[in-house]
Parts: sequence; structure tokens; C-alpha cells
Amino acid sequence: MLGTAAGGGLPQWNCGCTGCATARRTGAVRAQDCLAISADGAAWYLVNASPDLRSQLLAAPELAPPPGTRATPLRGVLLTSGELDHALGLVTLREAAELTVHATAPVRTALHEAFPVAPLLAPYTKAHWHTVTAGRPVELAGGLVAEALALGGKRPRYAADPAGLPAGDPAGERADWVVGYRFTEAGGRARAVYAPGLAAWTPALDRAVADADVVILDGTFATDDELAERTGGARTSRGMGHLAVADSLPHLARRPGPRYLYTHLNNTNPLAHRGSPEAAALAPALAAAGAAVAEDGTLLEL
Ligand code: MLT
Ligand code: MN
Ligand code: ZN
Repeated sequence: MLGTAAGGGLPQWNCGCTGCATARRTGAVRAQDCLAISADGAAWYLVNASPDLRSQLLAAPELAPPPGTRATPLRGVLLTSGELDHALGLVTLREAAELTVHATAPVRTALHEAFPVAPLLAPYTKAHWHTVTAGRPVELAGGLVAEALALGGKRPRYAADPAGLPAGDPAGERADWVVGYRFTEAGGRARAVYAPGLAAWTPALDRAVADADVVILDGTFATDDELAERTGGARTSRGMGHLAVADSLPHLARRPGPRYLYTHLNNTNPLAHRGSPEAAALAPALAAAGAAVAEDGTLLEL
């Protein structure tokens, strides 16, 4: 796990809240949400390309090129959304000889038009763009198989719908602006599910969770009214396309078995701050559901 924070990271550069100030003081920082995954330990894929990508790659020895070569073990990027905290890092990969990106149709269009990173990268690297379709597994290098799970219609704010749907409407017209991935080894069962943005607990997600070893989930907010409570704004977690931890925990309790980890933690989320009194208060409920908060740098060997 290369990063476990929501957009902005922890601390966020312009935030002096208790949590951000503590992170600055103690060094308990979190980079923005990003995962590297491999089935054979040789061919690796990024899930999301965070704005912190360069330091995240440097911190992972598995992702370094063999000495004397430029043979990066990175074989491509899978996007769970077109949000800036998931896509800005694509620019950091421009030195690659080739770059393969998998994204759903609306995200792919957004990255060619509203945020034209695709045409921008073209003079730098030979990019291959692939459309991901929910429910249709993609075979990747090294025996890794990824199946997208449609999770919501929340558009990035930069791609607000000209027809008048509010930007970021999680109930927007397309359900695959946001996806998660169910990862298997070729011919094997689900080993991991990654869903850092989760507007709703969909039937496909419910099925994917049932046979997974590890499930990494949206932990942006602890409760639906967290942001309103902490910043005085009116936006709910659900309204921003994020199912709060308090609202996904009952689903975890219904589906015991996998190891659950929460990621994409916003800096307002008390769970992001190890040792905070609120995190301690929530710990028993998490433990009862087999869940924990993910940490940057965690290596999960399945
Ligand atoms: C989100 O996860 O809701 C987005 O990344 C928010 C943002 O950074 O604009
Ligand atoms: Mn985000
Ligand atoms: Zn803060």
C-alpha cells in the first residue's frame, strides 16, 4: 500500500487542524491513496496514480528497475476514478518508455478531454489506453486478473456535466465513474478487493467480498456528518460519494472472513490519526468486524 490518505494527504498543505498539526509534529504522515499489486512478484500494476507517486515509488524497493537497466517492473496503471488524487500521478510516469492505463469509458474520456492528460503525455511516452468494463475481467501480466466493480456515478468536479447534473453527484447517470477492482490470480479465486471510493455497497461488491482474502475499502470519513461537523460545511459523506465507515461496518459484519482495511482517509477522519481518542473509541467496532485502518507502506502477502 503506497498511500492511504484521501485527496490532500495528511497533513494537507494548507490545513492546521489538530490532526494535520499532529501529523506535522510527529511525522505520522499519509500519502495519497495508491496501491501496487502483483501476482508473481515481478510484474507490478499501480492502482491509481497519486500526486505523491514519485516518493511512493522511491519508497518501494519492489518497484525499482534492476541495476543498470530501465526495465521498470511497472506494467501499467488501473484507475478507480478520474479524480485528481488518482490521476495526477500519471504525469509523473512520463519518463516511461511505454505506459498502459486501464480506465472505464467515462474516466478515459475525461482524461482525454476535461483533464487532457492523455494527449499531454503523448509526446513523452507511448501510452496505451484500455477501456475497463464492469464485470468483464482483464488479464494482466504475471497472471494477475482484474475485474472492475461499478461503484458510482460521481464525476470529478473538473468534469462537471454540461447538461446540468451537479458536479460530483454520486447518483449521476453513469455508474462507472467510480469502480473498485476484484483481483484474482489466473484461474484462482478472489484474493483482494480494492475499493477506495465507495458511494454505495453494490451487489457486485457484496459478491466480490464474499470470497476475498483481503478487502481494502473507502475510509474517507468515519461518519456521514463528519465533514459538516468539523468544517461547518453542508456536505455529507454520502453526498460526496463516500460511504462512511460507520455505514459500511454493518456490511462487513454480514460478510465475515476477509481481512478488511480502510484506506483513502481524509484528514478530518479521526481514524486517520493513530492514538486519537476518537480512533480509540471506534477501535472495538472495527475489531469486531475484522477491520483495521491501513497504513502507508503495508505489504500484504496473500
Ligand atoms: C474524492 O475522493 O471525493 C475526491 O478525490 C475529492 C477531491 O479530491 O476533489
Ligand atoms: Mn479522492
Ligand atoms: Zn487538517
